[in-house]
Amino acid sequence: MTAPIRFLTGITTSGTPHLGNYVGSIRPSVQASLRADVQSYYFLADYHALIKIDEPARIQRSTLEIAASWLAAGLDPARVVFYRQSDIPEIPELTWFLTCVTGKGILNRAHAYKASVDKNNAAGLDADADVSAGLFMYPVLMGADILLFNAHHVPVGRDQVQHIEMARDMAHSFNHRYGEHFVPPLAAIEESVATLPGLDGRKMSKSYDNTIALFAPRAELKKLIAAIKTDSRAPGEAKDTEGSALFQMYQAFASAQETATFAQEFANGIAWGAAKEQLFERIDREIAPMRARYELLIANPQEVEALLLQGAAKARAVATPFMAQLRQAVGLRGLAQSVKTTAKAVKSEVASLKQYREADGRFYFKLVDAKGAVLLQSQGLDSPQAAGKAIAALKAQGADALAALQPLLEPFDAHSAPLLQALHMLSAPAA
Ligand code: TRP
Repeated sequence: MTAPIRFLTGITTSGTPHLGNYVGSIRPSVQASLRADVQSYYFLADYHALIKIDEPARIQRSTLEIAASWLAAGLDPARVVFYRQSDIPEIPELTWFLTCVTGKGILNRAHAYKASVDKNNAAGLDADADVSAGLFMYPVLMGADILLFNAHHVPVGRDQVQHIEMARDMAHSFNHRYGEHFVPPLAAIEESVATLPGLDGRKMSKSYDNTIALFAPRAELKKLIAAIKTDSRAPGEAKDTEGSALFQMYQAFASAQETATFAQEFANGIAWGAAKEQLFERIDREIAPMRARYELLIANPQEVEALLLQGAAKARAVATPFMAQLRQAVGLRGLAQSVKTTAKAVKSEVASLKQYREADGRFYFKLVDAKGAVLLQSQGLDSPQAAGKAIAALKAQGADALAALQPLLEPFDAHSAPLLQALHMLSAPAA
């Protein structure tokens, strides 16, 4: 049995979702959530929204719209952990823990903060003019989002990769000080996921004001698609698919077969008006059934609220005990308990390496968890020294030793969370 891979992603509740959000984030996250080997944590990042927005009504509205969009797009709240960030008080608490193990210099180099500083410098202003400490701390809040649930895999756009790397650093710094509590997450840029162009051909983005709302009514969708920028080629003239925003949008919604047919029509000189009509119909075919469900949810916000509260309860069933463990680890402890508990003492309760000899006369070792379940099993080795050497390597290098030891081991899942966690524990320096 293989432990599921935990996927985690959040959407900041700062606006109305558009087709670019759908293609780049909502649709792929719903697809991933249907995989049997994936456990998904998806959330509405409303604490993040406070960094850029000071209109309370807009944050509330956006939270409803993004939640309803995810649900309308097929997210099954029974299958995933679907929650609102601000319902999880462990997130800001963990943010503080991570703040205290993150170098200020690292945050100075975060892209979002640096972009503001560069802009101020260029304008001859004070470097930190109009920069809130919230913007500066943004990567730490995001690190807490991810590490609280020990997510393995964080599907994000390229602009977010640096944040995931920072979260990895925070995991390592914390683990180094307090023992192995966090799984360092990996950024996963989904190469197959299209970046949707906007009305003007640049990436569809709120900051370019070139978006099409995901659930715009049919008539408005049609009008907006008619406004997509094209060149001035006349009907009958062959059109370039290369660099055509209209074509790329079609591609993001159509099958390979449909896309090939559309490309042929471009070559045959389809009129732009007709091409836009086809694009509109293709998008609407995918969106229309969701739109009906979306409108129903928007009209019944109490239904969405109830789902989010259930999701928060599921999330906190994980977060609350984990946070208790972390409080214990850093020394925020009740005074009645023994003050001598060390990371090492905790470690021995968790997992152990066992060396033994079988009736076949060969030497073996295995890694077992606290309940005795086998996490890693060696093959029969010629000498106790060979087993001892492998054990020493696992203790010294943890998961990093796995690749070299693989020939000595029975097949195992290198991504198994319990295995990786146990190896982290074994190889952690004693506190
Ligand atoms: N900062 C992300 C964005 O702007 C949203 C986000 C917040 C997020 N917390 C996260 C994404 C954790 C992935 C994981 O797109």
